[in-house]
Amino acid sequence: MEVKTPKESLTILTDLVLPGETNYLDNLFGGELLARMDRACSIAARRHSSRIVVTASVNHVAFNKSIPVGSVVTLEAKVSRAFKSSMEIYVDVWIEDRQSGLKTKVNEGIYTFVAVDETGKPVDVPQIKPETELEKQRFDGALRRKQLSLVIAGKMKPNDANELKALFKY
Ligand SMILES: CC(C)(COP(=O)(O)OP(=O)(O)OC[C@H]1O[C@@H](n2cnc3c(N)ncnc32)[C@H](O)[C@@H]1OP(=O)(O)O)[C@@H](O)C(=O)NCCC(=O)NCCS
Repeated sequence: MEVKTPKESLTILTDLVLPGETNYLDNLFGGELLARMDRACSIAARRHSSRIVVTASVNHVAFNKSIPVGSVVTLEAKVSRAFKSSMEIYVDVWIEDRQSGLKTKVNEGIYTFVAVDETGKPVDVPQIKPETELEKQRFDGALRRKQLSLVIAGKMKPNDANELKALFKY
Protein backbone atom coordinates (compact mmCIF):
# COMPACT_ATOMS: atom_id res chain seq x y z
CA MET A 1 0.00 0.00 0.00
CA GLU A 2 0.99 3.60 -0.65
CA VAL A 3 3.14 5.46 1.93
CA LYS A 4 2.29 9.09 2.66
CA THR A 5 3.87 11.89 4.68
CA PRO A 6 2.28 13.82 7.59
CA LYS A 7 2.33 17.06 5.62
CA GLU A 8 -0.04 15.57 3.06
CA SER A 9 -2.73 15.52 5.76
CA LEU A 10 -1.96 18.98 7.16
CA THR A 11 -5.21 20.77 7.99
CA ILE A 12 -5.28 24.39 9.13
CA LEU A 13 -8.45 25.93 10.55
CA THR A 14 -8.47 29.62 11.52
CA ASP A 15 -11.51 31.17 13.19
CA LEU A 16 -12.56 33.82 15.70
CA VAL A 17 -13.79 33.34 19.27
CA LEU A 18 -17.26 34.93 19.46
CA PRO A 19 -19.09 35.86 22.71
CA GLY A 20 -21.57 32.95 22.40
CA GLU A 21 -18.67 30.46 22.52
CA THR A 22 -17.20 31.54 25.86
CA ASN A 23 -17.51 30.65 29.56
CA TYR A 24 -18.22 32.98 32.52
CA LEU A 25 -14.64 34.30 32.37
CA ASP A 26 -15.04 35.28 28.70
CA ASN A 27 -12.63 32.57 27.57
CA LEU A 28 -13.33 29.96 24.89
CA PHE A 29 -15.54 27.17 26.29
CA GLY A 30 -13.60 23.87 26.49
CA GLY A 31 -16.28 21.91 24.62
CA GLU A 32 -16.16 24.39 21.74
CA LEU A 33 -12.39 23.93 21.45
CA LEU A 34 -12.83 20.13 21.53
CA ALA A 35 -15.35 20.36 18.67
CA ARG A 36 -12.96 22.48 16.59
CA MET A 37 -10.13 20.03 17.32
CA ASP A 38 -12.31 17.05 16.36
CA ARG A 39 -13.24 18.73 13.08
CA ALA A 40 -9.62 19.56 12.16
CA CYS A 41 -8.42 16.03 13.07
CA SER A 42 -11.26 14.48 11.12
CA ILE A 43 -10.25 16.37 7.96
CA ALA A 44 -6.58 15.39 8.46
CA ALA A 45 -7.56 11.70 8.88
CA ARG A 46 -9.75 11.88 5.78
CA ARG A 47 -6.95 13.49 3.76
CA HIS A 48 -4.57 10.71 4.82
CA SER A 49 -6.91 7.79 4.24
CA SER A 50 -9.27 9.09 1.50
CA ARG A 51 -11.97 7.22 3.45
CA ILE A 52 -14.90 7.85 5.77
CA VAL A 53 -13.36 8.38 9.23
CA VAL A 54 -14.81 8.25 12.75
CA THR A 55 -13.42 9.45 16.06
CA ALA A 56 -12.37 6.38 18.06
CA SER A 57 -10.86 8.16 21.07
CA VAL A 58 -9.57 11.44 22.42
CA ASN A 59 -6.26 10.34 23.88
CA HIS A 60 -5.09 13.59 25.38
CA VAL A 61 -6.09 17.25 25.55
CA ALA A 62 -4.14 19.86 27.47
CA PHE A 63 -5.95 23.13 28.15
CA ASN A 64 -2.70 24.90 29.02
CA LYS A 65 -3.75 28.49 28.42
CA SER A 66 -7.14 30.13 28.17
CA ILE A 67 -8.26 31.72 24.89
CA PRO A 68 -9.97 35.10 25.37
CA VAL A 69 -13.05 36.23 23.45
CA GLY A 70 -12.08 37.98 20.21
CA SER A 71 -8.98 35.82 19.71
CA VAL A 72 -8.02 34.56 16.28
CA VAL A 73 -7.43 30.83 16.85
CA THR A 74 -5.58 28.56 14.44
CA LEU A 75 -5.64 24.77 14.70
CA GLU A 76 -3.05 22.73 12.83
CA ALA A 77 -3.76 19.00 12.60
CA LYS A 78 -1.62 16.29 11.01
CA VAL A 79 -1.61 12.50 11.08
CA SER A 80 1.37 11.51 13.22
CA ARG A 81 1.15 7.74 12.70
CA ALA A 82 -1.00 5.27 10.84
CA PHE A 83 -1.54 1.71 12.08
CA LYS A 84 -3.86 -0.80 10.33
CA SER A 85 -7.18 1.05 10.21
CA SER A 86 -6.48 3.65 12.90
CA MET A 87 -4.56 6.91 12.74
CA GLU A 88 -3.18 9.12 15.48
CA ILE A 89 -3.69 12.82 14.79
CA TYR A 90 -1.93 15.61 16.64
CA VAL A 91 -3.58 19.01 16.76
CA ASP A 92 -1.72 22.14 17.89
CA VAL A 93 -3.69 25.27 18.82
CA TRP A 94 -2.27 28.78 18.40
CA ILE A 95 -3.53 32.29 19.03
CA GLU A 96 -2.06 35.37 17.38
CA ASP A 97 -1.26 38.81 18.74
CA ARG A 98 -3.46 41.42 17.09
CA GLN A 99 -0.68 43.97 16.58
CA SER A 100 2.46 41.92 15.94
CA GLY A 101 0.77 38.89 14.39
CA LEU A 102 3.09 36.70 16.52
CA LYS A 103 1.63 33.26 17.23
CA THR A 104 1.64 31.60 20.70
CA LYS A 105 0.88 27.90 21.16
CA VAL A 106 -1.88 27.58 23.77
CA ASN A 107 -3.19 24.01 23.65
CA GLU A 108 -2.76 20.64 22.00
CA GLY A 109 -4.72 17.45 21.53
CA ILE A 110 -4.14 13.89 20.36
CA TYR A 111 -7.00 12.04 18.71
CA THR A 112 -7.46 8.56 17.24
CA PHE A 113 -9.57 8.15 14.11
CA VAL A 114 -10.50 4.93 12.34
CA ALA A 115 -11.14 4.63 8.60
CA VAL A 116 -14.29 2.69 7.82
CA ASP A 117 -16.28 1.54 4.79
CA GLU A 118 -19.92 2.46 4.10
CA THR A 119 -21.08 -0.16 6.62
CA GLY A 120 -18.82 1.18 9.40
CA LYS A 121 -16.31 -1.70 9.14
CA PRO A 122 -12.66 -0.69 9.70
CA VAL A 123 -10.50 -0.65 6.54
CA ASP A 124 -6.73 -0.40 6.03
CA VAL A 125 -5.08 3.00 5.66
CA PRO A 126 -1.79 4.02 3.97
CA GLN A 127 1.30 3.92 6.17
CA ILE A 128 3.14 7.12 7.02
CA LYS A 129 6.77 8.24 6.82
CA PRO A 130 7.63 11.13 9.15
CA GLU A 131 10.03 13.76 7.77
CA THR A 132 10.78 16.47 10.36
CA GLU A 133 12.30 15.92 13.83
CA LEU A 134 8.96 16.71 15.51
CA GLU A 135 7.09 14.34 13.19
CA LYS A 136 9.62 11.60 14.01
CA GLN A 137 9.23 12.19 17.78
CA ARG A 138 5.45 12.02 17.53
CA PHE A 139 5.61 8.93 15.30
CA ASP A 140 7.90 7.17 17.81
CA GLY A 141 5.58 7.81 20.78
CA ALA A 142 2.35 6.92 18.97
CA LEU A 143 2.46 3.15 19.55
CA ARG A 144 2.81 3.67 23.33
CA ARG A 145 -0.10 6.11 23.29
CA LYS A 146 -2.23 3.67 21.27
CA GLN A 147 -1.48 0.92 23.79
CA LEU A 148 -2.33 3.23 26.72
CA SER A 149 -5.62 4.23 25.09
CA LEU A 150 -6.54 0.57 24.45
CA VAL A 151 -5.62 -0.43 28.01
CA ILE A 152 -7.76 2.39 29.46
CA ALA A 153 -10.64 1.41 27.16
CA GLY A 154 -10.35 -2.20 28.41
CA LYS A 155 -9.46 -3.40 24.88
CA MET A 156 -5.90 -4.52 25.69
CA LYS A 157 -4.42 -6.32 28.68
CA PRO A 158 -1.75 -4.19 30.40
CA ASN A 159 0.57 -7.14 30.21
CA ASP A 160 0.39 -7.14 26.39
CA ALA A 161 1.36 -3.45 26.12
CA ASN A 162 5.07 -4.15 25.66
CA GLU A 163 6.20 -0.75 24.33
CA LEU A 164 4.22 1.03 27.06
CA LYS A 165 5.64 -1.21 29.81
CA ALA A 166 9.17 -0.56 28.55
CA LEU A 167 8.78 3.08 29.64
CA PHE A 168 8.68 1.97 33.28
CA LYS A 169 11.75 -0.30 33.16
CA TYR A 170 15.07 1.06 34.31
C1 LIG B 1 -14.04 3.17 16.19
C2 LIG B 1 -14.70 1.87 15.77
C3 LIG B 1 -14.85 1.84 14.24
C4 LIG B 1 -13.76 0.74 16.20
O1 LIG B 1 -14.45 -0.45 15.91
P1 LIG B 1 -14.00 -1.85 16.58
O2 LIG B 1 -15.07 -2.83 16.38
O3 LIG B 1 -13.47 -1.59 17.97
O4 LIG B 1 -12.88 -2.26 15.59
P2 LIG B 1 -11.46 -2.86 15.90
O5 LIG B 1 -11.40 -3.53 17.23
O6 LIG B 1 -11.09 -3.64 14.68
O7 LIG B 1 -10.58 -1.54 15.98
C5 LIG B 1 -10.30 -0.79 14.82
C6 LIG B 1 -9.08 0.03 15.12
O8 LIG B 1 -9.41 1.00 16.10
C7 LIG B 1 -8.46 0.96 17.15
N1 LIG B 1 -9.14 1.36 18.37
C8 LIG B 1 -10.35 0.96 18.81
N2 LIG B 1 -10.63 1.57 19.99
C9 LIG B 1 -9.56 2.36 20.27
C10 LIG B 1 -9.23 3.22 21.35
N3 LIG B 1 -10.07 3.40 22.40
N4 LIG B 1 -8.04 3.86 21.33
C11 LIG B 1 -7.19 3.69 20.30
N5 LIG B 1 -7.44 2.89 19.24
C12 LIG B 1 -8.62 2.24 19.23
C13 LIG B 1 -8.03 -0.51 17.19
O9 LIG B 1 -6.80 -0.65 17.87
C14 LIG B 1 -7.92 -0.78 15.70
O10 LIG B 1 -6.72 -0.19 15.22
P3 LIG B 1 -5.84 -0.84 14.03
O11 LIG B 1 -6.80 -1.38 12.99
O12 LIG B 1 -5.06 0.31 13.49
O13 LIG B 1 -4.98 -1.87 14.65
C15 LIG B 1 -16.11 1.66 16.43
O14 LIG B 1 -15.93 1.51 17.83
C16 LIG B 1 -17.06 2.80 16.17
O15 LIG B 1 -17.63 2.89 15.10
N6 LIG B 1 -17.22 3.69 17.18
C17 LIG B 1 -18.10 4.84 17.04
C18 LIG B 1 -17.35 5.96 16.32
C19 LIG B 1 -18.13 7.25 16.37
O16 LIG B 1 -19.32 7.26 16.15
N7 LIG B 1 -17.41 8.33 16.67
C20 LIG B 1 -18.03 9.60 16.85
C21 LIG B 1 -18.25 9.79 18.30
S1 LIG B 1 -19.75 10.57 18.66
